[in-house]
Amino acid sequence: MRLNLELTAKDAPRAVKRGDLIVVVDVLRCTSTIITALANGAEAIIPVRTLREAYKLARENPNYILAGERGGLKPRGFKLGNSPLEFRREVVEGRTIILTTTSGTVALTRSRGARTILVGALLNAEATAKKALEMAEKAGVDISIVLSGKKGRFSLEDFICAGAIGYRINSGDVELSDAATAATLTFHSAKGKLFDEIRCGEHAKHLINLGLEDDVKFCCRMDLFNLVPIYRNGVIKPL
Ligand code: MLT
Repeated sequence: MRLNLELTAKDAPRAVKRGDLIVVVDVLRCTSTIITALANGAEAIIPVRTLREAYKLARENPNYILAGERGGLKPRGFKLGNSPLEFRREVVEGRTIILTTTSGTVALTRSRGARTILVGALLNAEATAKKALEMAEKAGVDISIVLSGKKGRFSLEDFICAGAIGYRINSGDVELSDAATAATLTFHSAKGKLFDEIRCGEHAKHLINLGLEDDVKFCCRMDLFNLVPIYRNGVIKPL
């Protein structure tokens, strides 16, 4: 088995074409938010690409919660932004959430077509690695970690997270691509000081400037949750 790494959302179709099991990662903050919402009892998350689609779906389903961001901020008329800390149990339990974000929901929707799409972040790195390995072995396919990046560009925190997942997948039988090896090496040097390393990244700096340092700190917590979301038939639910 091979572990591949695609560095931005626009590269997701390559992983789909290979027939790989895909793990989509957007540490800041989309996949961290999805994992937190589901861990706090949300029924399901529906990722959508555009604000227009999000508003339309919300009009058709008035009970759904409309959430997401543009430029890091909550768009007009949305109930929640994209801060995982907003998705508390008392707000989301039993609710379906429509989520649109700048890059994370793009990586997810671009991965559609893969047979299995899991949702990973530092918050569930170990559980994600375990599930991805188990499911890929069973299906006889390779694994691709697809990083959301930022507006089509590479991002540090997603690369470190790929390393955190890759490091756990890296058993004797798994061959790592050079990019996956580089990510595990980066994770090795960053672990134990994840917040200090990740805060140096462009996106973390942007969020900290918006007053969202607590979000960055939360998203840097490793293995807080054992839950692994799966995206199928347009909806994300716990596996
Ligand atoms: C995204 O999907 O681009 C991110 O989640 C942006 C953010 O930090 O809100």
